[in-house]
Amino acid sequence: MEIRFQNGGPEHWQADLLLALGCEDEDLLVQNPELAKACPWLKESTGLNDFKATKGEQCLLYGPGADLPIARVLLLGMGKREEVDLAALRLSLAQGLQRCAKLGLKSALLMESLLARFGGGRERLLEEAVCAAKLSLYEFCVLKTKADEPEGPQWLALGQESTESQEAALLAVRRGEHSASVVSLARDLANMPGNLLYPATLADRARDLAQSHGLGLEILDEKALEAEGLFCLLGVGQGSAHPPRLIILEYAPKGHEAEKPLIFIGKGITFDSGGICLKPAANMHEMKCDMSGASAVLAALCSLADEAVPRRIIGILPCAENLPDGRAFRPGDVLTCASGETVEVINTDAEGRLALCDALAYAQKRWTPQAIIDIATLTGACAVALGKGLAGLFCANAGLAERIEAAGAVCGENFWTLPLWQPYAEQLKSEVADIRHTGSREGGAITAALFLEHFLKPGALWAHLDIAGVDWNSKATALCPEGASGFGARTLLEFGRMGLGQN
Ligand code: BES
Ligand code: MN
Ligand code: ZN
Repeated sequence: MEIRFQNGGPEHWQADLLLALGCEDEDLLVQNPELAKACPWLKESTGLNDFKATKGEQCLLYGPGADLPIARVLLLGMGKREEVDLAALRLSLAQGLQRCAKLGLKSALLMESLLARFGGGRERLLEEAVCAAKLSLYEFCVLKTKADEPEGPQWLALGQESTESQEAALLAVRRGEHSASVVSLARDLANMPGNLLYPATLADRARDLAQSHGLGLEILDEKALEAEGLFCLLGVGQGSAHPPRLIILEYAPKGHEAEKPLIFIGKGITFDSGGICLKPAANMHEMKCDMSGASAVLAALCSLADEAVPRRIIGILPCAENLPDGRAFRPGDVLTCASGETVEVINTDAEGRLALCDALAYAQKRWTPQAIIDIATLTGACAVALGKGLAGLFCANAGLAERIEAAGAVCGENFWTLPLWQPYAEQLKSEVADIRHTGSREGGAITAALFLEHFLKPGALWAHLDIAGVDWNSKATALCPEGASGFGARTLLEFGRMGLGQN
């Protein structure tokens, strides 16, 4: 769906359908004279009186005659004005566009003046509106041989009063398009099933994407991983016919090649069966999404390169498939990390932290990072603690934590800070190796984070995002069908746009 501008006021607006966002206790036509001008027939419509604008309410009104510049208005209820926020705007708009798609219409129009009430500044609102509109049409359909619904509208017009130069608005629209495509790409990758997307095929996708977005790319195959000593990642993948890969992406714009990089690390378990400590069958299919962290990093890097942000960013995706087998790693095994330290494996289902500790160690051996952010579907305990709407944020540095939270907040990805509670590190003491890889069930998200923290050099700036639970959407909404949510991709994009504030 292409985004257009229609400038010069209501006389110049034209589309199959106009989306009108209304709040309770307001007179839509009185408060929005442009709407009355764009659709003079509206004031005669009885439907307008019936519309109460309660949250989620929809009312489709038809003008007299199909040859009107705007012959349909879809009223979208937003509820009480004082309760309306960006999340409500995203959802209502998405619902409106889905209705438009169901009707099989070719075009829709959104009056920019109707956005202003949501607060947050014009550019931000435009970006969010465009992103939500595009995401409402997201489908994962590459594996279906027959289409089950008509395609959405071909274009969405932003109706504006002014005729002035639209540079700032155009930029905001571009950002909205990038934001939507970062989420779509992250979802597409995460929705791919384990038989089609495994470490080597994910590496192939990364290669294609790196080429088309101008990113540097390096892939460590099993031999290279051995040479570099990433035996924890190798251990996780040992039971699979598809060997592990470490995918490294680099975005280094001109003039920033020698800068200390920001490093994003994404957990890339292409399927997590639990290994020898096999998971129960119920919902195990959701574990094809266990590379959501990797897909968020890969997608964010593509968009950051497209936007030519002025900083060096490296993405590292430790990828493996966790399966039980005669050759699989087992509880009690001791694996050596790229840091040279030994790790006692307790539960083969805690494979994510093994993939990540190697990536963390490798990253710090090879580069001097400005900061490291890892993102991972790491623990069921995090999902239990925070539910399906919040991701866990672990970070000892208040400034970095605040920036990540702020990046998430503007795009509707919400994080809640959980503690790196040092007394629990006791649980990670091993009788046979340098560190034990799990603690007790209670506080499992915290001990997982503490395990990762162990592999950081003193003073390193690091944050860990646990997206278990939020990575998978179990009930379709207008903004996301059932399946991978793409959570985290926008936060990383936003964080990459902002940087650490030093450059
Ligand atoms: N990938 C899972 C965590 C997960 C659970 C993600 C639910 C999304 C939804 C992870 O590898 C895992 O299995 N973790 C174990 C750790 C435990 C064995 C210490 C868990 O959370 O049960
Ligand atoms: Mn697991
Ligand atoms: Zn996992």
